[in-house]
Amino acid sequence: MSAIFQVDRLKKSFGGLDVTRDVSLSMEKGDRIALIGPNGAGKTTFVNLVTGHLRPNSGRVLMGGEDISRFNPMKRVRAGLVRSFQVTRVFAEMTPEEHVALAILQREGKSGRMAGSYHALPEVMRETRAILETLNLVALAGIPVSEIAYGQQRLLEIALAMALRPKVLLLDEPAAGVPHSDTYLIENALKQLPDDLAVLMIEHDMDLVFRFAKRVIVLAAGEIIFDGSPRDVTQDARVREAYLGSYAHASSAA
Ligand SMILES: Nc1ncnc2c1ncn2[C@@H]1O[C@H](COP(=O)(O)OP(=O)(O)O)[C@@H](O)[C@H]1O
Ligand SMILES: [Mg+2]
Repeated sequence: MSAIFQVDRLKKSFGGLDVTRDVSLSMEKGDRIALIGPNGAGKTTFVNLVTGHLRPNSGRVLMGGEDISRFNPMKRVRAGLVRSFQVTRVFAEMTPEEHVALAILQREGKSGRMAGSYHALPEVMRETRAILETLNLVALAGIPVSEIAYGQQRLLEIALAMALRPKVLLLDEPAAGVPHSDTYLIENALKQLPDDLAVLMIEHDMDLVFRFAKRVIVLAAGEIIFDGSPRDVTQDARVREAYLGSYAHASSAA
């Protein structure tokens, strides 16, 4: 199969520190990839580089074979490369339905319309509903975001990313800050994402990683030290040393 998303020899340094060292990877339709690694490994920087929020020192980013390295962030979104953003805290009085409908209108270049007017647009209402369904948010559609649980606010962030019609979805720690008892909300919603969407998720919760990912990429000190199956990652000597030691111990002891 041909790659929908490719990163080719990406490099970035801050001052003298090499934060992204020659990172290359590719994703195909339907991929479910977990990007893991210690704090400071360069995971968030990687997302910022490929989405155009940071400029790399060198390297290329391609979508469907097209070089998008010179595209600004908005243009990359239009090419189908979308990350989730923490915007729900800013507009806490808006409801999930309003958030998603406005994101759709914005995508369609109709953001000048008033927030209320989307009710008269059946297409927008239908799509809003479908997205809220995918993320299990229908029951909360009309409740101000400030009144819904943090885990579900994080789901709304994924819903907003879905409103931008991604081909490749990048999630930077979607379960961060979510109480452990609520991570199943995130896990269940992720299962309902469209099959042909390619998803790369940065995540520290290894139980969630192993249930979600078909492929695991390990970043350590700015370098990919492993790219392979979840089964093999726990056996890899470099990965155990850099990151997984305690997890491998815990699971072999269990
Ligand atoms: N804007 C920046 N300026 C300088 N150093 C940065 C900047 N952003 C990140 N870094 C450094 O780059 C490294 C990787 O950070 P980051 O990508 O946030 O790691 P991760 O997401 O894997 O925890 C860290 O050492 C961090 O301090
Ligand atoms: Mg990070």
